[in-house]
Parts: sequence; C-alpha cells; structure tokens
Amino acid sequence: MSVRLFAPYLGEEELNEIRDSFAKSWIGLGEKVAAFESAFSEYLNCKNSIGVNSATAGLHLALNAFKFNKGKKVLVPDITFASTAFASVYNGLEPVFVDVNEDTVTISIDDLIKKYSKDCVAVMPVHYGGQPAEMEKITDFARDNNLKVIEDCAHTIGASYKDKKLGLWGEVGCFSFEEKKAMTTGDGGMICTNDDGIAERIRAPRWLGIDKDTYKRSSGYTSINELDVKHWYYDINELGFKYNMNDLSAAIGLVQLKKLDWMNKRRSEIIRKYLDLMKDLNYTKPILPFEPENYSYWLFGVRCGKRDELIKYLKSKKISTGVHYVPLTQVNYFKQWKSDCPVAENIWNEFVTLPLHVMLTDKEIQLVVDSLYEFEKKNY
Ligand SMILES: Cc1ncc(COP(=O)(O)O)c(C=O)c1O
Repeated sequence: MSVRLFAPYLGEEELNEIRDSFAKSWIGLGEKVAAFESAFSEYLNCKNSIGVNSATAGLHLALNAFKFNKGKKVLVPDITFASTAFASVYNGLEPVFVDVNEDTVTISIDDLIKKYSKDCVAVMPVHYGGQPAEMEKITDFARDNNLKVIEDCAHTIGASYKDKKLGLWGEVGCFSFEEKKAMTTGDGGMICTNDDGIAERIRAPRWLGIDKDTYKRSSGYTSINELDVKHWYYDINELGFKYNMNDLSAAIGLVQLKKLDWMNKRRSEIIRKYLDLMKDLNYTKPILPFEPENYSYWLFGVRCGKRDELIKYLKSKKISTGVHYVPLTQVNYFKQWKSDCPVAENIWNEFVTLPLHVMLTDKEIQLVVDSLYEFEKKNY
C-alpha cells in the first residue's frame, strides 16, 4: 500500500451516465458533449465553451484562432508543462520563455516586460498549481502592447482572482480534464471565451474544419422537420484537426462538474491541514503562498534544499512524490529558444510535489507530515 500522489474521484454516477450513452448507442461527438459544454458555460458564467480531447489541443486551437503570421512570438512561463509552449510551435510561432516569480511560480511581470519585443503577439499565463497569475497586470500590459491573452487554466477550475473567474481574464481560457486534474473526463479539455467570433474560429477546426458536426447532420437523416435533401452536405474552409471531445468523456464530465465544488473544497481542507501541521518545519517550506480558502489548488508541494534525499526518504515510507516541472529552457527540445530564467533555474531544484487528492485520509496526511519532520531531524 502506498500513498498516491494524485487520484481521480469516480463513482457509480459517472458509470450511470456512461450507461446512458451505451443505451443510446452514441459515444462520439454528440448531445452529451453539447450538454457538458452548456453546463460548463453556466458554471463558469461564460458565453462559449468548446469541448476538446485535451487542454493541449485546446491551447493549440486557441492560438490558431488568431491566425498570427508564422515566426511571430508567444510569451510563456519557463515553469509549466510542455503543452503551453508546444501550442506556439504547432502554430508556427516561437515560444519566448519568461522567468517566474520566486514566491508564486507564475509568470514574472518584470521579466515579461524585459523579454517583450515587437514580434510578440500573445502571452499565455499559467496559474501554477492553482496559484493565480497576476492577471490584472498581465492584461494591462497586453492591452497596451496589442497582445492576445490565452490563460492556461490546466491547474485550476472554478476559482476567482480579484472577483473575476480564472479563465475569463484573457481572450480565451483553456481547462484540462486529464485524469489527475481538478476534475476529469479521462482525457479532455474545455476552451472558454466570451467572444463569439473567436468561438466560431475554434469550433470548426476542432472537428476537421467541417462546418456542420456529425450529430447535427445525423438528425437530418430522419427528422421530419428537416426535409432537406442535402442534409449530408458539408464544406471545409480551413485546415482542421481531430480534436473533438466524445460523449463518453462528456458523460463523465457532466457528473464530475456537479462534484467539482465539493472536490475543490476537500482539496482546500487537506491543504489547510498540511499547512497547519507543517508550521514548525525549518527547512521544508510550502512551494506557494497557499490560500486554500481563496483559490482552488490542484497541486501541493514543498521546497527543500535536499530535494532528492527527501524524495528518496518519502519513497522509503511508500509516499509518492513528483516534481512539477523541469523548466522548459532545460528540456532538450526547447533549448533552441533558450533564454535566461535564473529564478526558475534556481527554485525548481528544490520542488517536491506531495500527495493531494480528495480521497487522501487524515492518517495519510499525518504520515506525510511526520515523515517530513523525521527527515529534517535526520538530515539537518
Ligand atoms: C500547465 C498545463 N498546461 C497544459 C496541460 C495539458 O493538459 P492535457 O493533458 O489536458 O492536454 C497540462 C497538463 O498537465 C498542464 O499542466
């Protein structure tokens, strides 16, 4: 038995919703995707939500909507998952790696201003672990410099920053439902925007650029309200991708969305417990200025100067850990766009992600914290 790092929280309700899709014998892009998109829009209070098969696909399509000239540049934080930076490469654009703030691990405004050039067309802030990026400063700078803002919300769903929902600060927000995230659909993502024009430029390319989706065309086969002999006809006006969400994922998502507030609250309670129990540690400090009562975190972790020894010690106690993330400027593929990010380079060596999921028990939390104290006693 070991303490898991992340775990999806799934039950009979999700299975029942999947059974409903089986009963209808429709598991592709269909009415459940549409229902999940509406429910998500209602939850976030935004005009348009578009379901896709991952946040990676969502970030690709979000940038694609602006048809930037090839070779232009996109500002991304150095500490993030590769998908944030890949989105620019998929679009023939160049990532510009911006350093992070030491305390919040979100994109540094000072370095953003330093790295900005006239070739930059967009900025993609990441709410690292659920810690909001400084969106008011980012959107002000973006407005003054004609940059589009695409929020990578893979690590948080439902929280607000300065009274505005994360995901709605920029032109587009992209959420992830990958299995470890705040809520899951197995794999999946949602692209959200209040701009109808942008939504339109995202909807067609997510399904091969086809201007009518299968579900709508299929109803034309038999519906007596649609006596259009050309119901089967569609056109393609641009390069498209096979990035749609399917009804099986949406079935899970519909139920997960109903549980989301509770799951966010439960994760917040666990973080509060961790913080209270860890108060007297001297060399092992929380990675972020966690405010679990105000924001929704997906990740909990500590900074420790003896990172690798700590990981080994926790492993000996059967406690799973992770490191989020190796800065992208240090990853082979991205070295071609290397830029100086001294803070990221310095702090990531101390990162240890600790177990956080809604099923984590008090006993497991205590074991993790006791192990941290024992480690300090033995190693300092
Ligand atoms: C910051 C960030 N952006 C994007 C993604 C991509 O999400 P997905 O796995 O849904 O493609 C992840 C996934 O872990 C992530 O952490």
